[in-house]
Amino acid sequence: MKPVMLSAVQPTNKLTLGTYLGALKNWAKLQHQYDCLFFAVDLHAITARQDPKVLRENTYRAIATYLASGIDPDHCTLFVQSHVPQHAQLSWILTCYSYMGELSRMTQFKDKSSKQGQNIPTGLFTYPVLMASDILLYRTKLVPVGEDQKQHIELTRDIAGRFNNLYGEDIFTMPEPYIAPIGARIMSLQNPASKMSKSDPDLNGTLFLDDSDDLILKKVKRAVTDSGSEIVLADDKPGVKNLLTIQSAITGKSIQDIVATYVGKQYGHLKVDTAEICVQAIKPIREETERLMGDLTHLNGILKRGAESARERAQKTVALVEERLGFIPG
Ligand code: TYM
Repeated sequence: MKPVMLSAVQPTNKLTLGTYLGALKNWAKLQHQYDCLFFAVDLHAITARQDPKVLRENTYRAIATYLASGIDPDHCTLFVQSHVPQHAQLSWILTCYSYMGELSRMTQFKDKSSKQGQNIPTGLFTYPVLMASDILLYRTKLVPVGEDQKQHIELTRDIAGRFNNLYGEDIFTMPEPYIAPIGARIMSLQNPASKMSKSDPDLNGTLFLDDSDDLILKKVKRAVTDSGSEIVLADDKPGVKNLLTIQSAITGKSIQDIVATYVGKQYGHLKVDTAEICVQAIKPIREETERLMGDLTHLNGILKRGAESARERAQKTVALVEERLGFIPG
């Protein structure tokens, strides 16, 4: 039996180049070595207000993008989180085994809640417990994610350890993050001090996986670079570093090798080349996603099959947890 690998994306908007390089590309690369589950986390998405029509479209689109990025539906279990009620069920139980203190230390909670004003949804606070449940339901060994999710996986390990300590070491498997050495933190093209994000109000900072070739070229050519003119990898050149990182994560070439090709060249050259490389990476994903979005019956078939299999697996964990807690079998 192969070890379990699991990961997910929030369908809060179209997916970005950051999502692809930090997550999807690694899912596709590793999928055949693992028993894989990939899903779209619509329950997580509603921690911020969503337009129902847009959420539905984005949820299908997330799954179509997984497929277009090379995820094999005959090998992996693909589903939508809300189709498997055990995620919410285990989440309530684990909420009772997580602490206000540890949840308030989550960087993502601090960032997101600071932008919410007075009324911070409780779901934003308990969100990492739902993510822990996603992971722990399936005896997951490996969770391929970008750098920003590492803290949530550490919390998952803390909760799992705490629960196992009380009720039995055989209940939850300890998950490990898989964070790629290059591409785990792609930065905004307009503000290289902050992460490229699906929800950045500055649309020029983010490359979406459905951007047209022209738009990609335009956004990358307008990317903010740094003072000076030399193309080197340096901490005081975060804009240049980001473009070199994007090239390296897409092509698989080392940053040093890429830098060596730019001796004596200008920032303009780096931008033009990076733009072309991004077009080559995004175009086939965009075209295949669009094709798949034209056949929702096909997508529904994959999701139905995935949800059935996921529910069966998840229920085994929930039943074990409930038995250990002392709940009477229903
Ligand atoms: P989300 O939807 O914010 O991001 C999805 C995945 O993409 C990675 N990522 C990035 N990587 C590199 N550079 C970027 N700029 C960038 N932006 C996003 C994220 O690290 C993530 O891997 N809470 C999760 C979803 C989730 C999940 C799970 C993940 C829910 N349950 C269980 C793994 C396992 C999230 O909001 O990801």
